[in-house]
Amino acid sequence: MKLKSLNPELMPLNSMPAAKGYYYIPPFWGPMFLTRHEERILDGEEGLGQQKAMEILTALGKIFDAEKLIPINSAHLSGVSYKTIGEGGLQFLDSLKGEAQVRVKTTLNPAGMDLERWRDMGVNPHFADRQIAIIDSYRSLGVQTCCTCTPYLHHNVPRLGEHVAWAESNALSFVNSVIGARTNREGGPGALAAAIIGKTPLYGLHLEENRHPSVIVEADIGDDMLSHSLLGQVVGKKLGNAVPYFRGIDPDIDRLKTMAAAMAAAGAIALFHVEGVTPMDLEYELNDLERIEVDFSDIEEAKESLTSGKEPDLIALGCPHLSEVEMREIATLLETRERKRDIEVWFCTNRRVKELCPREVATLEKFGKVVCDTCMVVAPIEDHHECTGTNSAKACNYLPGLCSQKVVCDTTKGLLELIS
Ligand code: F3S
Repeated sequence: MKLKSLNPELMPLNSMPAAKGYYYIPPFWGPMFLTRHEERILDGEEGLGQQKAMEILTALGKIFDAEKLIPINSAHLSGVSYKTIGEGGLQFLDSLKGEAQVRVKTTLNPAGMDLERWRDMGVNPHFADRQIAIIDSYRSLGVQTCCTCTPYLHHNVPRLGEHVAWAESNALSFVNSVIGARTNREGGPGALAAAIIGKTPLYGLHLEENRHPSVIVEADIGDDMLSHSLLGQVVGKKLGNAVPYFRGIDPDIDRLKTMAAAMAAAGAIALFHVEGVTPMDLEYELNDLERIEVDFSDIEEAKESLTSGKEPDLIALGCPHLSEVEMREIATLLETRERKRDIEVWFCTNRRVKELCPREVATLEKFGKVVCDTCMVVAPIEDHHECTGTNSAKACNYLPGLCSQKVVCDTTKGLLELIS
């Protein structure tokens, strides 16, 4: 049933009398205002692709009680690997070809393979063919096909206070927390719809009142990378979707990204603050907040709980994708060593980082493969491997279920000592 516009640019969709130009919205949904232009899009006047996207955004907005749509500056999309979206996902993307274009800078999460050296990874030609079709579909929509889960380091860097619509849990948590941009925890379709319309519903972490810390975490865990990942694991598991405020740590960018990834995988945390580190740390009143403590024994316990295997036949580093600094650190660790055992090793990163680190890439390639565009979780590793060693709590969470793997959780140094 259609309803008619009385006149204003902004009218609540479900509080209007029946009249032309407004959609009937079932009464259990909250009021949501659309501009006349948004209404025309919903009406299909600007094409099927935009209409589909607007339908997704208005449905989300009503479920979450958003008052209206707001403009965004960028989007980041998940749902790229053929392993995770399959034929259904490819058909949906194909249905948008020629029907829609993204309106804001939009980047893409890892695919199921290195788009150039997929044969080296043992990916079968059918999978490769479908994966390339998915990438082509995204490209036809105007999406930048960088295929990385760390676009915030190079390809797509939001600014403090900007509204964006990002999927990929580590990335959206990083831009919310470390950069101070504002995004909800978008799914693939929601982020794509937002990219096509250039807007997102105003609710959740776009609103200041939902960005306040809710729990103080006093951490005593040391400085190494794995401990920060496991801190994310402990806190994510314990706090679910709270907004933690960390004290007692001084993480660099790489530690922040591994924490963000683990908290989002073990729980649903999409925003955190770190005293003296993240941009909004001084903005909030902390007096009445609950406190929890995390120490070395919690970290050790988390490591044990994530470990289910003994002898990895794949060692995979780079979850989230390795930065230039991490590539340098690994190269330094390996420089004076020789490869002694024949275990498959992947160093997962993005193509930009690979280009920026030719010397490090040369060192790493003596011990394994520098793999771009993909990662150990979204590639079909289960076709060739049974047990994966990783230094990422996020990967440890997903490898058993998504890749049928046993897992060895260890430090970068500990894992590389298995081969050198
Ligand atoms: Fe990135 Fe894959 Fe880990 S998408 S965060 S490397 S699971």
